[in-house]
Amino acid sequence: MAWPALGPGRLLERCGDAAPRGMTVHDRTRLIGRLPISMKGVLSTPSQILCESKMPSADADQVASHFRHTSVLLEGAVDALVHDPDGTYLDGTFGRGGHSRLILSRLGEQGRLMAMDRDPQAIAAAAEIEDARFQITQREFAHLAEYAKEHGLYGKLSGVLLDIGVSSPQLDDPERGFSFMRNGPLDMRMDPTQGESAAEFLARAREADIANVFKTFGEERYAKRLARAVVTRRAEKPFTHTVDLAEVLKAAHPAWEKGRHPATKAFQGLRIYLNGELEQLDAALEAALEALAPGGHLVVISFHSLEDRRVKRFIRHHVRGDTHLPRGVPIRDDQLNRRLEALGKGMRPSDDEVDVNPRARSAVMRAARKRM
Ligand SMILES: C[S@@+](CC[C@H](N)C(=O)[O-])C[C@H]1O[C@@H](n2cnc3c(N)ncnc32)[C@H](O)[C@@H]1O
Repeated sequence: MAWPALGPGRLLERCGDAAPRGMTVHDRTRLIGRLPISMKGVLSTPSQILCESKMPSADADQVASHFRHTSVLLEGAVDALVHDPDGTYLDGTFGRGGHSRLILSRLGEQGRLMAMDRDPQAIAAAAEIEDARFQITQREFAHLAEYAKEHGLYGKLSGVLLDIGVSSPQLDDPERGFSFMRNGPLDMRMDPTQGESAAEFLARAREADIANVFKTFGEERYAKRLARAVVTRRAEKPFTHTVDLAEVLKAAHPAWEKGRHPATKAFQGLRIYLNGELEQLDAALEAALEALAPGGHLVVISFHSLEDRRVKRFIRHHVRGDTHLPRGVPIRDDQLNRRLEALGKGMRPSDDEVDVNPRARSAVMRAARKRM
C-alpha cells in the first residue's frame, strides 16, 4: 500500500489499534525508517507502531521537536547487502539508523552489525538500539579498516554499506550550519569538533581558493564571480551565519535556475570541501575492498555525480582488473587480478519513493561482490 509523507503527528493519527488492512511487513519497515529518534525508543518494533495511538501528547511534542531522516533505497540497499544472516556487516554511515535497523532485522543470532558515523549526534541517537549484535564507533569511514582490524574482522566482513553525504537532521537543524534557508552559525562540519568551520575558511581563504572550492566541489559555473563577492563583503564584515552568506551569493549570481536557490552549488562545494568528502569516499572504497571477506558485498548509495562517478569508476576498475598491458599481449584471466563482480546496474529510487522523500531524487546505489 502507498504511504504518504508522515510527520510525527500524522504518523500517530494513522496508527490505529490494529494494523491497517493490507499493510505488509515491507510497509511497516518503511515506517520504522521514518521514525524520528525520540520515537525509536518508545516504538522499537513494527507491531508496536500499530498500537501506539494512545501515546501521551507530551511525548508527541517531544517527537515533533526532533529532526528526522528518511532512509533512501532502504529495502534495495539491505537486499543487496545481506546475503548471509550469520555474517558480520559494517554500516559506515549510521545517520539515524534506518538501514542499520533493517539490517539487524535480517540477521540471525550469530549475525553482527558494526556501525560508524563521524557525527556525535548520530552516535547519541544509536544509544536507542539495544541489541547485543550491534555496536557503533564515532569515526570517519575512511578508517573503517582499522575498526575492522581492532575487532579481528579485517578481510572477514560479509558486507559494507556506505550511504554517503549528509543526513536530514544535519541539513534541517539550523544549528549545524548546512542550511541556506534556515539561519544558523556558518559551520557545516559533520563532526563539529574536527577541522575548520565554513566561517573560519571563508575568513582566511584566498579568493582563488574559494572560487576553486565552489567550482571543483560545487560544479558552480560562476565560481569566480561568487568568490569575488564573498571576498568583497568579508572586507567589511566577516561571515558568521548561513543566510547572510546565501544572500550575498544570491545577489552575485547572474543566472538563477528555476526551483533552485542560487547558493545551492556554492554551499554544496563548501560542505564537500570542509568535510573532505571525496577523499573520505576514495579511502573508504579501498579500505572496504580489503576489509571484506571473499564473497562479501559492497553497497554504496551516493547523492551527486561527483560521488557516483568515483564509485562507478572504482567498481569498473576492479571488475576489469589490471588492463594496463598493451593490447594483444596474451594474459591469463587470473593474471588480471579482478577483485570485484558488479551486482546489477546502478539502482535509483522509484517515483513513489521520490514522491514521499524528494531528497531521494538524485540517489544512485551501486553494489558489487568481492571475488573469491
Ligand atoms: C545519508 S546519512 C545516512 C543515513 C542512514 N543510512 C539512515 O538510514 O539513517 C549519512 C551519514 O553519514 C555520515 N557520514 C558522512 N561522511 C562520513 C564519513 N566520512 N565518516 C563517517 N560518517 C560519515 C553523516 O554524518 C551522516 O550521519
